[in-house]
Amino acid sequence: MSIFHYQNNTLFAEDVSIAQLASTQPTPFYCYSSRAFSQHYQQFKAAFASLPNTLCYAMKANSNQAILKLLAQQGAGADVVSLGELQRAIEAGFPAEKIVFSGVAKSAAEIKAALKLNIHCFNVESEPELRHISAIAQSMNKIAPVSLRINPDVDPATHAKISTGKSSDKFGIPLKNALPIYQLAADLPAIEVCGIDMHIGSQITKLSAYDEAIGLLVTLANTLKEQGIAIKHFNFGGGLGVAYKDSDSDQQTLLAQYAEIIKKHACALNCHYIFEPGRFIAANAGILVTQVRYVKPVEEKCFVIVDAAMNDLIRPTLYEAYHQIASVEQANEKSETQIVDVVGPVCETGDYLALNRKLAPVSEGDLLVLHSAGAYGAVQSSTYNSRPLISEVLVDGDRWHTIRQSPSIEQLINLDSIPNWL
Ligand code: LLP
Repeated sequence: MSIFHYQNNTLFAEDVSIAQLASTQPTPFYCYSSRAFSQHYQQFKAAFASLPNTLCYAMKANSNQAILKLLAQQGAGADVVSLGELQRAIEAGFPAEKIVFSGVAKSAAEIKAALKLNIHCFNVESEPELRHISAIAQSMNKIAPVSLRINPDVDPATHAKISTGKSSDKFGIPLKNALPIYQLAADLPAIEVCGIDMHIGSQITKLSAYDEAIGLLVTLANTLKEQGIAIKHFNFGGGLGVAYKDSDSDQQTLLAQYAEIIKKHACALNCHYIFEPGRFIAANAGILVTQVRYVKPVEEKCFVIVDAAMNDLIRPTLYEAYHQIASVEQANEKSETQIVDVVGPVCETGDYLALNRKLAPVSEGDLLVLHSAGAYGAVQSSTYNSRPLISEVLVDGDRWHTIRQSPSIEQLINLDSIPNWL
């Protein structure tokens, strides 16, 4: 049985009725399934069981402490990109030796904290960053383990805002500069070269991009070996796409195809492997539950105005992302559908959750859900229009817990401070 499923025409997350949850919880809210998080983690691990590897969950996808703890307990490592994420990871119980630190602009404070904790490695993205890490490590009498993130200039054929592997993207060290910078890393006093790293983009479904990029980096690894620079681990990054629509390849099929590509290249490497999936683990483990406030037909279309908005889930506005929308109470199969825009209360035309979507007729008060909202949903939300961050609920079998409370408007106001001259 699928994790979000209908029983007697009403939607359940595992064994918890969404309608019942919504009667105890103000909408909108995120609802996650523990079982789905665990399953996705285990599926990914199973696909690479034959390779020595560490799965460093890209916690930017969903960094709620409860989710992190759940994954840490299963044995995952973490890919962090800020001091905040590093602190969250440690507090959730990820061992420091399973933490990798990514990002183009690590600050001195971040580098120091990570060195103190003895994390597995820094994924370094430029020569100045490499020199900065070396200088800080030297001042602390430490040796910094580093992996260089190489930009292979490969087109991952994904949305422009989440492509990272082309030479025009800000990420990584251009492949053509890799050899001298590896040499520099080997010569710097407080650096230990440990790996090669790549991350070419997100929501990748054209897997040939991985094949091409990994092929280029395997050649680089072999050249480095000839030059006496041994690579202890190869980090494939994250980016594997998931299904957002019924017509998308399901994520199990994509995972199997991805694993085949990885294994083909791994034969030539013979080292430890690191993966940094985020979306694969989180996206289809969560939904956004929202309520219809008004239905407003106008001349050329119909607006379904719900209580969730772009500040709660920005993906449709920012990436033209598609999230499947469904009613919590399943409509009669014979009921006619209409084409609607599902929009929120925020004062922007760009505040929509779906455009030109076929939906069964809905009325004020109906509950709807947006599927595949577990990744890059809550973490990218804001308090725009002074709308407090919404709550997050985690379901596990027939039990559930509010893993983040929505703050009150007073708490939001009290974050501001009025100068004494006003
Ligand atoms: N590793 C690095 C270095 C990354 O920058 C990312 C994502 C990942 C791993 C995980 O990628 P994933 O497996 O989740 O695709 N907010 C956008 C996605 C941004 C991805 C940023 N980096 C969205 O909502 O689609």
